[in-house]
Amino acid sequence: MIQTPQKFTALTDTSTRRLVAVVPAAGIGSRMQTDKPKQYLTIQGKTILEHSLNVLLTHPANIEQIILAVAPQDSYLSELNCLKQPRIRIIQGGETRADSVLNGLNHIPSSDNTWVFVHDAARPCLTHGDMDKLLAVNDINGAILATPAIDTIKRANNHKQIQQTEDRNHIWLAQTPQFFPADLLRHALQTALQQGLAITDEASAMELAGFQPHLVQGRTDNIKVTRPEDLALAAFYLSQQNTKETL
Ligand code: C5P
Repeated sequence: MIQTPQKFTALTDTSTRRLVAVVPAAGIGSRMQTDKPKQYLTIQGKTILEHSLNVLLTHPANIEQIILAVAPQDSYLSELNCLKQPRIRIIQGGETRADSVLNGLNHIPSSDNTWVFVHDAARPCLTHGDMDKLLAVNDINGAILATPAIDTIKRANNHKQIQQTEDRNHIWLAQTPQFFPADLLRHALQTALQQGLAITDEASAMELAGFQPHLVQGRTDNIKVTRPEDLALAAFYLSQQNTKETL
Protein backbone atom coordinates (compact mmCIF):
# COMPACT_ATOMS: atom_id res chain seq x y z
CA MET A 1 0.00 0.00 0.00
CA ILE A 2 1.28 3.48 -0.85
CA GLN A 3 1.53 5.72 2.18
CA THR A 4 1.01 9.43 1.83
CA PRO A 5 3.45 11.81 3.54
CA GLN A 6 0.79 12.73 6.09
CA LYS A 7 0.40 9.11 7.20
CA PHE A 8 3.90 7.74 7.12
CA THR A 9 5.78 6.52 10.13
CA ALA A 10 9.17 8.09 9.68
CA LEU A 11 11.43 5.18 10.60
CA THR A 12 11.82 1.81 8.89
CA ASP A 13 13.40 -1.37 10.21
CA THR A 14 16.78 -1.52 8.50
CA SER A 15 17.45 -5.09 9.68
CA THR A 16 14.71 -6.48 7.45
CA ARG A 17 15.21 -4.03 4.60
CA ARG A 18 15.72 -5.58 1.16
CA LEU A 19 17.96 -3.76 -1.28
CA VAL A 20 17.73 -3.49 -5.04
CA ALA A 21 19.24 -1.07 -7.56
CA VAL A 22 18.04 0.50 -10.78
CA VAL A 23 20.72 1.72 -13.18
CA PRO A 24 19.46 3.92 -16.03
CA ALA A 25 21.81 3.34 -18.98
CA ALA A 26 19.60 4.08 -21.95
CA GLY A 27 20.97 7.52 -22.79
CA ILE A 28 22.94 8.41 -25.89
CA GLY A 29 25.21 10.93 -24.16
CA SER A 30 25.24 13.43 -27.02
CA ARG A 31 27.27 15.97 -25.01
CA MET A 32 30.25 13.56 -25.06
CA GLN A 33 30.62 13.95 -28.85
CA THR A 34 31.69 10.33 -29.27
CA ASP A 35 30.53 7.63 -31.69
CA LYS A 36 29.12 5.47 -28.89
CA PRO A 37 27.04 6.21 -25.78
CA LYS A 38 29.25 7.46 -22.97
CA GLN A 39 28.55 4.50 -20.67
CA TYR A 40 30.40 2.30 -23.19
CA LEU A 41 33.59 4.36 -23.27
CA THR A 42 36.49 2.54 -21.64
CA ILE A 43 38.61 3.50 -18.63
CA GLN A 44 41.38 1.15 -17.44
CA GLY A 45 40.09 -1.63 -19.72
CA LYS A 46 36.52 -1.52 -18.47
CA THR A 47 33.52 0.43 -19.68
CA ILE A 48 32.10 3.23 -17.55
CA LEU A 49 28.97 1.12 -17.12
CA GLU A 50 30.99 -1.84 -15.81
CA HIS A 51 32.78 0.39 -13.29
CA SER A 52 29.41 1.69 -12.07
CA LEU A 53 27.84 -1.79 -11.85
CA ASN A 54 30.92 -3.16 -10.14
CA VAL A 55 30.59 -0.78 -7.17
CA LEU A 56 26.98 -1.89 -6.66
CA LEU A 57 27.74 -5.60 -7.13
CA THR A 58 30.63 -5.64 -4.66
CA HIS A 59 28.96 -3.69 -1.85
CA PRO A 60 28.83 -5.93 1.26
CA ALA A 61 25.17 -5.05 1.94
CA ASN A 62 24.43 -7.51 -0.87
CA ILE A 63 22.05 -5.75 -3.23
CA GLU A 64 19.67 -8.53 -4.33
CA GLN A 65 19.08 -7.39 -7.87
CA ILE A 66 20.43 -4.72 -10.19
CA ILE A 67 17.97 -3.71 -12.88
CA LEU A 68 19.78 -2.25 -15.84
CA ALA A 69 17.70 -0.14 -18.24
CA VAL A 70 19.23 0.00 -21.72
CA ALA A 71 18.19 1.47 -25.06
CA PRO A 72 16.02 -0.80 -27.26
CA GLN A 73 18.69 -1.23 -29.95
CA ASP A 74 21.73 -1.33 -27.72
CA SER A 75 24.45 -3.05 -29.75
CA TYR A 76 27.26 -2.61 -27.20
CA LEU A 77 25.75 -4.47 -24.28
CA SER A 78 26.63 -8.00 -25.42
CA GLU A 79 30.36 -7.14 -25.16
CA LEU A 80 30.20 -6.74 -21.39
CA ASN A 81 31.62 -9.45 -19.15
CA CYS A 82 29.85 -8.51 -15.95
CA LEU A 83 26.44 -9.20 -17.48
CA LYS A 84 26.99 -12.85 -16.69
CA GLN A 85 26.30 -11.87 -13.09
CA PRO A 86 22.97 -13.50 -12.17
CA ARG A 87 22.00 -10.49 -10.05
CA ILE A 88 21.85 -8.23 -13.12
CA ARG A 89 18.53 -8.06 -14.94
CA ILE A 90 18.36 -6.20 -18.24
CA ILE A 91 15.23 -4.30 -19.19
CA GLN A 92 14.30 -1.75 -21.82
CA GLY A 93 14.79 1.94 -20.99
CA GLY A 94 12.46 4.76 -21.98
CA GLU A 95 12.46 8.05 -23.80
CA THR A 96 13.76 10.06 -20.83
CA ARG A 97 15.88 9.13 -17.82
CA ALA A 98 12.76 9.22 -15.62
CA ASP A 99 10.95 6.81 -18.00
CA SER A 100 13.94 4.45 -17.85
CA VAL A 101 13.96 4.56 -14.05
CA LEU A 102 10.20 3.97 -13.86
CA ASN A 103 10.48 0.99 -16.23
CA GLY A 104 13.11 -0.38 -13.86
CA LEU A 105 11.01 0.22 -10.75
CA ASN A 106 8.09 -1.58 -12.41
CA HIS A 107 10.20 -4.77 -12.36
CA ILE A 108 10.54 -4.68 -8.57
CA PRO A 109 7.85 -6.71 -6.75
CA SER A 110 5.72 -4.49 -4.53
CA SER A 111 6.83 -4.60 -0.89
CA ASP A 112 6.89 -2.29 2.12
CA ASN A 113 10.51 -2.96 3.00
CA THR A 114 12.30 -2.90 -0.34
CA TRP A 115 14.58 0.10 -0.84
CA VAL A 116 16.12 1.04 -4.14
CA PHE A 117 19.38 2.71 -5.05
CA VAL A 118 18.97 4.55 -8.36
CA HIS A 119 22.42 5.13 -9.80
CA ASP A 120 23.45 6.70 -13.12
CA ALA A 121 25.44 4.39 -15.38
CA ALA A 122 27.64 7.40 -16.10
CA ARG A 123 28.96 7.75 -12.51
CA PRO A 124 31.78 5.20 -12.33
CA CYS A 125 33.69 6.70 -9.37
CA LEU A 126 31.10 5.97 -6.66
CA THR A 127 32.58 4.51 -3.47
CA HIS A 128 31.20 2.02 -0.95
CA GLY A 129 31.80 4.65 1.74
CA ASP A 130 29.25 6.97 0.12
CA MET A 131 26.78 4.10 -0.27
CA ASP A 132 27.23 3.33 3.45
CA LYS A 133 26.22 6.90 4.30
CA LEU A 134 22.95 6.43 2.40
CA LEU A 135 22.36 3.05 4.05
CA ALA A 136 22.58 4.75 7.44
CA VAL A 137 19.38 6.67 6.60
CA ASN A 138 16.27 4.89 7.82
CA ASP A 139 13.67 7.57 7.36
CA ILE A 140 11.19 6.95 4.56
CA ASN A 141 11.77 10.42 3.14
CA GLY A 142 14.83 8.75 1.63
CA ALA A 143 18.15 10.37 0.82
CA ILE A 144 20.44 11.38 -1.98
CA LEU A 145 24.15 11.97 -2.28
CA ALA A 146 24.89 15.62 -2.96
CA THR A 147 27.65 18.19 -2.55
CA PRO A 148 27.27 21.72 -1.20
CA ALA A 149 27.76 24.42 -3.84
CA ILE A 150 31.28 25.84 -3.77
CA ASP A 151 31.03 28.44 -6.54
CA THR A 152 28.80 31.48 -6.34
CA ILE A 153 25.51 30.65 -8.04
CA LYS A 154 23.94 33.02 -10.56
CA ARG A 155 20.40 32.78 -11.91
CA ALA A 156 20.27 33.82 -15.58
CA ASN A 157 17.56 35.48 -17.62
CA ASN A 158 16.74 34.32 -21.16
CA HIS A 159 19.60 36.43 -22.56
CA LYS A 160 22.30 34.82 -20.40
CA GLN A 161 22.53 37.91 -18.22
CA ILE A 162 22.57 37.66 -14.45
CA GLN A 163 19.14 38.12 -12.97
CA GLN A 164 20.06 37.28 -9.41
CA THR A 165 22.76 35.83 -7.14
CA GLU A 166 21.49 32.89 -5.11
CA ASP A 167 22.35 32.21 -1.47
CA ARG A 168 24.76 29.31 -1.99
CA ASN A 169 24.50 28.25 1.66
CA HIS A 170 21.26 26.56 0.68
CA ILE A 171 22.33 25.17 -2.69
CA TRP A 172 23.41 21.55 -3.12
CA LEU A 173 24.33 19.68 -6.28
CA ALA A 174 22.48 16.38 -6.58
CA GLN A 175 24.34 13.18 -7.43
CA THR A 176 23.39 9.53 -7.46
CA PRO A 177 22.78 7.07 -5.91
CA GLN A 178 19.42 8.29 -4.71
CA PHE A 179 17.94 5.94 -2.12
CA PHE A 180 14.22 5.49 -1.47
CA PRO A 181 11.56 2.97 -0.48
CA ALA A 182 10.88 1.42 -3.90
CA ASP A 183 7.07 1.52 -3.75
CA LEU A 184 6.97 5.17 -2.68
CA LEU A 185 9.37 6.18 -5.43
CA ARG A 186 7.45 4.24 -8.09
CA HIS A 187 4.22 5.94 -7.07
CA ALA A 188 5.85 9.39 -6.95
CA LEU A 189 7.50 9.00 -10.37
CA GLN A 190 4.35 7.59 -11.97
CA THR A 191 2.31 10.52 -10.66
CA ALA A 192 4.85 13.15 -11.75
CA LEU A 193 5.18 11.67 -15.25
CA GLN A 194 1.40 11.38 -15.64
CA GLN A 195 1.22 15.09 -14.86
CA GLY A 196 3.74 15.78 -17.63
CA LEU A 197 6.35 17.19 -15.26
CA ALA A 198 10.01 17.20 -16.29
CA ILE A 199 11.80 15.01 -13.76
CA THR A 200 15.61 14.93 -13.84
CA ASP A 201 16.17 13.02 -10.62
CA GLU A 202 14.22 10.76 -8.28
CA ALA A 203 14.27 13.21 -5.36
CA SER A 204 12.29 15.78 -7.35
CA ALA A 205 9.49 13.26 -7.87
CA MET A 206 9.50 12.50 -4.13
CA GLU A 207 9.47 16.24 -3.34
CA LEU A 208 6.42 16.71 -5.56
CA ALA A 209 4.75 13.90 -3.63
CA GLY A 210 5.34 15.84 -0.40
CA PHE A 211 8.46 14.12 0.95
CA GLN A 212 11.63 15.87 2.06
CA PRO A 213 14.57 13.65 1.09
CA HIS A 214 17.76 14.02 3.12
CA LEU A 215 20.87 15.53 1.58
CA VAL A 216 23.84 13.30 2.40
CA GLN A 217 27.17 14.91 1.65
CA GLY A 218 28.99 12.80 -0.93
CA ARG A 219 32.46 12.89 -2.41
CA THR A 220 33.17 15.41 -5.15
CA ASP A 221 34.86 12.72 -7.27
CA ASN A 222 31.49 10.99 -7.86
CA ILE A 223 31.22 12.84 -11.17
CA LYS A 224 28.76 12.15 -13.96
CA VAL A 225 30.81 11.68 -17.11
CA THR A 226 29.11 14.15 -19.42
CA ARG A 227 31.61 16.20 -21.44
CA PRO A 228 34.76 15.02 -23.26
CA GLU A 229 37.09 16.40 -20.56
CA ASP A 230 35.30 14.35 -17.87
CA LEU A 231 36.77 11.11 -19.19
CA ALA A 232 40.35 11.94 -18.16
CA LEU A 233 39.11 13.17 -14.80
CA ALA A 234 37.16 9.95 -14.14
CA ALA A 235 40.24 7.93 -15.18
CA PHE A 236 42.35 9.88 -12.69
CA TYR A 237 39.86 9.46 -9.85
CA LEU A 238 39.54 5.71 -10.55
CA SER A 239 43.33 5.35 -10.55
CA GLN A 240 43.34 6.92 -7.05
CA GLN A 241 40.79 4.33 -5.88
CA ASN A 242 42.88 1.38 -7.04
CA THR A 243 42.03 -0.70 -4.00
CA LYS A 244 38.53 -1.23 -5.42
CA GLU A 245 37.33 -4.80 -5.38
CA THR A 246 36.20 -6.22 -8.75
CA LEU A 247 34.04 -9.16 -9.64
O1 C5P B 1 21.89 12.42 -19.96
P1 C5P B 1 22.24 12.27 -18.50
O2 C5P B 1 23.70 12.37 -18.27
O3 C5P B 1 21.45 13.11 -17.58
O4 C5P B 1 21.84 10.77 -18.16
C1 C5P B 1 21.96 10.26 -16.85
C2 C5P B 1 21.77 8.75 -16.90
O5 C5P B 1 20.46 8.45 -17.38
C3 C5P B 1 22.75 8.06 -17.84
O6 C5P B 1 23.26 6.91 -17.17
C4 C5P B 1 21.91 7.72 -19.06
O7 C5P B 1 22.33 6.55 -19.74
C5 C5P B 1 20.53 7.50 -18.43
N1 C5P B 1 19.41 7.72 -19.36
C6 C5P B 1 18.48 6.70 -19.52
N2 C5P B 1 17.42 6.85 -20.41
C7 C5P B 1 17.30 7.97 -21.13
C8 C5P B 1 18.23 9.03 -20.96
C9 C5P B 1 19.28 8.88 -20.06
O8 C5P B 1 18.58 5.63 -18.89
N3 C5P B 1 16.29 8.07 -21.98
